[in-house]
Amino acid sequence: MSLKNMNVLVMGAGIGIGAAITRRLAQEGANLILLLTHRAQAESGPIDALINNAGLALGAPAAFSDLKIRGVVTMTGTNINGYMLATYAVLNDGGMRERGKGTLLKVTSTTALDDPPFPGESIYHATRRFQEGFTDALRT
Ligand SMILES: NC(=O)c1ccc[n+]([C@@H]2O[C@H](COP(=O)([O-])OP(=O)(O)OC[C@H]3O[C@@H](n4cnc5c(N)ncnc54)[C@H](OP(=O)(O)O)[C@@H]3O)[C@@H](O)[C@H]2O)c1
Repeated sequence: MSLKNMNVLVMGAGIGIGAAITRRLAQEGANLILLLTHRAQAESGPIDALINNAGLALGAPAAFSDLKIRGVVTMTGTNINGYMLATYAVLNDGGMRERGKGTLLKVTSTTALDDPPFPGESIYHATRRFQEGFTDALRT
């Protein structure tokens, strides 16, 4: 797939995997719209691809009952609402639904596919399971 001149929205582009994906997309000639910290309004015209990469794990290996509520809310807000609403934005404001095409690429975790290998990952694991279920349903 040629990425030249595609409009790509990257969530969590500042560091890590998102930054590496962004550099490669730039080399391939994509037009980049980058989310660094605050959520983007898709006002940049049609979006061809979304790299849904922003996410985080907080508090592990602490057990659920020892987690800070602020951390739980940040994790669910980012990994569930952020993930879901970014998808909603590119489908509607980004025009994918109207044009009947577009690419949704998720960066999630293998923890979504199995039971967690250690305790203390309850919320992180559950949010990744949400992403799998949401993506499967959306694909259908
Ligand atoms: N590295 C791993 O071993 C691993 C394993 C499994 C899954 N993952 C997942 O893969 C993705 C990328 O991992 P990484 O290692 O590159 O992580 P990272 O270095 O921690 O980068 C995470 C990115 O997500 C952004 N982000 C976090 N919370 C956000 C929020 N509330 N709103 C907007 N942006 C937010 C950060 O933005 P700022 O720079 O603005 O803070 C950052 O750019 C994440 O979803 C991570 O959970 C990583």
